[in-house]
Amino acid sequence: MSPSDARVAVVGAGLMGHGIAQVFARAGHEVRLFDLDPDALGGARDRIAENLTALGLDPSAADRVQPVADLAGAVGEANLVIECVREDLSAKQRLFAEIERHAKPDAVLATNTSVIPITRIMGGLASRERALGTHWWNPPYIVPLVEVIGTEWTSGAALDATMELLRAVGKVPVHVRRDVPGFIGNRLQHALWREAIALVEDGVCDPATIDLVVKSSFGPRLAVLGPMENADLVGLDLALAVHRTLFPHLANAGAPSPYLERLVAEQRLGMKTGAGFYEWSAERQQEVKSRLIRRLSYAEAEPV
Ligand SMILES: NC(=O)c1ccc[n+]([C@@H]2O[C@H](COP(=O)([O-])OP(=O)(O)OC[C@H]3O[C@@H](n4cnc5c(N)ncnc54)[C@H](O)[C@@H]3O)[C@@H](O)[C@H]2O)c1
Repeated sequence: MSPSDARVAVVGAGLMGHGIAQVFARAGHEVRLFDLDPDALGGARDRIAENLTALGLDPSAADRVQPVADLAGAVGEANLVIECVREDLSAKQRLFAEIERHAKPDAVLATNTSVIPITRIMGGLASRERALGTHWWNPPYIVPLVEVIGTEWTSGAALDATMELLRAVGKVPVHVRRDVPGFIGNRLQHALWREAIALVEDGVCDPATIDLVVKSSFGPRLAVLGPMENADLVGLDLALAVHRTLFPHLANAGAPSPYLERLVAEQRLGMKTGAGFYEWSAERQQEVKSRLIRRLSYAEAEPV
C-alpha cells in the first residue's frame, strides 16, 4: 500500500466513519463509503462538506468520497478498509468475515473499535496477518492521534504501511505494542472518568465542579505536558509520596458505578436524550460542540 495512491474504504458512515473518510479525502485519496442505513450514507458527503466549511477549508474535497450502496463494491478495490460500525463484538466479527471475502488479498483490514481487543474481533479470519486496529479520536478530522494496534498475527508490513499512510495524511499514529482492552488512550481516560463519577456518587462535589476543576487546572496543562513529563517536572519523589498517601483511597471498582447504571436505566444518556449528568437543550449542545471544534483546531495548526 503506497501512501501516495492508496484507495481507502470506510464501512459505517456515522460520527466516526464520515470524519475518517474526510481525512483521507482531504489528503487527496479516493474514498468509498458504505453504510447499511441509506440516510447515513446519503448524507455523509454533505456532512463532510459542512465540516470542511466550518473549518474554513475547501469543501470540494468531499467530492472524493463516493457513497457505495453495497459492501462488495465499497471494499473491492481498496488497499485499506476501516470498519466504523457500532461497538458490538459479534456485529464486527460478522462484518469482517464478509469484508474478508470481498477485499483484495493484500488489503489491510482495520477496526476502529474503542476498547474491544483486536484479537477478539479478528481471531476468526483466515488472513489475520493483515488485520489490525486503528483507533481514531472524535472528531477524527481534528484530533491528531490514531492508535495502531496489532495482534500476535499482524505482519510488520501491515503495521508499517498503515502507520506510514496515517502519517502521510497528517495524523499522529502510535503503535500499541500489546492488544490490551482500551489500548492506551481510553485506559487513561476512563481511569479518570471512574474517579470523577465516584467523587460525585460519594457526595464530594457535583458534576459541574468536576468539569471546572479539570478545565481550570491540569486539563489545559495536559495538552502541553503529558503525565510522564509532568511527573518528571514535579519530581518522582513527590509522585511517590503522593501515591503512598492517595492510592488506598482512589476508586478501584472492577465494574461500572451503580450511579452510572441508574442514569442509563432512566434514559439519561447525555446529549442524545437531552439529559445525562447535565440537562442539554439543543442550543446548549450546539454551543458546546462549536466551542470544541474552535478550541481543538489548534491541534492541526501546532502538532505535538
Ligand atoms: N464516537 C466516538 O467518540 C468514538 C471514538 C473512537 C472510536 N469509536 C468507535 O467507532 C465505531 C463507530 O462509532 P460511531 O460513534 O461512529 O457510531 P455511529 O452510531 O455514529 O455510526 C455507526 C454507523 O454504522 C452503521 N452500521 C451499523 N452496522 C453496519 C453494518 N453491518 N454495515 C455497515 N454499516 C453499519 C450505522 O448505520 C451507523 O451509521 C464504534 O466501534 C465506536 O466504539 C467511537
